[in-house]
Amino acid sequence: MNHSPTSSPRILVLHGPNLNLLGRREPEIYGRTTLDEINRQLAELGAQLGLEVDTFQSNHEGDIVDRIQQAADRCDGVIINAAAFTHTSVAIRDALAALHMPVIEVHLSNIHRREPFRHTSLTAGVVTGQILGLGASGYALALRALAEMVRPAVTTLV
Ligand code: DQA
Repeated sequence: MNHSPTSSPRILVLHGPNLNLLGRREPEIYGRTTLDEINRQLAELGAQLGLEVDTFQSNHEGDIVDRIQQAADRCDGVIINAAAFTHTSVAIRDALAALHMPVIEVHLSNIHRREPFRHTSLTAGVVTGQILGLGASGYALALRALAEMVRPAVTTLV
């Protein structure tokens, strides 16, 4: 559903804890692209795809839950990298499960190639799909996929 019928579909991009440090945090795992660069690329791609893109980063679980709840009335799709909360947060999973819109989970690294505690995603069972291990470009791929899903149906009159 497009929550804003007179304007572009709106996508919320949520970044979890420590992702504010991207670029200098374990770059051999997470790459050298900063969060600002990722957000800027998503805004530009969103404009090309006819989407409004809102971005939000927090180190606090409750703030992320609040943003997910607000998305129910304001947004048409969500991209989330819940970072470490992916593996721990029933609250974020439950908030996502209550949304009636496509949600794509993104991880910069392939969590299944890493430590065993990262192999479990509590959110995996309630999202539309996951993109893992493709670095920063995973976000752009997620946005393109969402564009296909939220694009208003086009009726062609012949
Ligand atoms: C991450 C993977 C998580 O295990 C980790 O806690 C992160 C980032 C990723 O994008 O690869 O902070 O979500």
